[in-house]
Amino acid sequence: MRNQQNLSQVKAGDNFKGFLMLYKIYGKTSKIGKLYANLELGDATGTIEGRWWDIDKEIIENFSEMQPVAIKGSIEEWQDKLQFKVEKMRAICEEDELHGFDFALLVPTTPYNVDEMWGELIDIITEIAEPNLQDLLGKIFARYEEDFKSFPAAHRLHHSYRGGLLEHTLSVVKIVKNLCEHFPRLDRDLVLTGAILHDIGKIKEYREDPRQSSTMSGELIGHVVQGWEIILDEYRQIEYFPENLLIKLGHIILSHHGKYEYGSPKLPKTAEAIVVNFADDLDAKVSLFYSVIDNDKDKGEFTYYNQIFEGRLYRG
Ligand SMILES: [Fe+2]
Ligand SMILES: [Fe+2]
Repeated sequence: MRNQQNLSQVKAGDNFKGFLMLYKIYGKTSKIGKLYANLELGDATGTIEGRWWDIDKEIIENFSEMQPVAIKGSIEEWQDKLQFKVEKMRAICEEDELHGFDFALLVPTTPYNVDEMWGELIDIITEIAEPNLQDLLGKIFARYEEDFKSFPAAHRLHHSYRGGLLEHTLSVVKIVKNLCEHFPRLDRDLVLTGAILHDIGKIKEYREDPRQSSTMSGELIGHVVQGWEIILDEYRQIEYFPENLLIKLGHIILSHHGKYEYGSPKLPKTAEAIVVNFADDLDAKVSLFYSVIDNDKDKGEFTYYNQIFEGRLYRG
């Protein structure tokens, strides 16, 4: 619904009509033996718990988790927390798009323009002179372009929103591009290709909505190895791709987390792999820094203690 209220801004007493993501729904029985549903609802700006009173078991069973819904109800306060009291709720249907339903409005999304970022990345890809790497990138993005543009880069921490994977990748690619000027001995084509593909496995590890859990294969195998699998699949379609080049590229992907305890099966052993590892870490840390100082509940000069940075961050 166009002009629907953001969940981050609703207050007790508001009426609400629009579209939300249904993250969870399950039935419970009240003290007087009546069935009701507990819900978790969300939009791009936040989440809220919900209650749906006097409801049939069959209605609850008709909904699934992680489903966009059209919903009507009101906001109430219960034990110091806001709660959505549902009056009506149904699954999304095709006509809803005419009334402003847009999936991107329901999940946190990159603040940058996806088409512009994609255009910048394509421009950099065309700079790659090595024909096999060009071919490989072309084949991978012919298959995965849409996912690559819409997936998050993480569930939490850095770039955990739709489009986050593209935003993070582009940033890492721009950092390494500068480093190639600084260190002219680097194999520029290999560094750029490694940076572009370093997190490609996330399209198998995650799902489009950052709040959804990882896929089964993502949980058990993970994007470092899944990225290598994607590269191997496309490599097999290219005749005469030099094996040596494939191994050097694979090494960048498989070592990009830099340490065994961060999930890298190999430590970086080429200058190109070291550069991608540091650029990746730098981009993740700087964007995490801003996300922590923007979202931390302590609004003073310093944030609360942060485990990843092992200290309180200074807002300045
Ligand atoms: Fe990664
Ligand atoms: Fe990364």
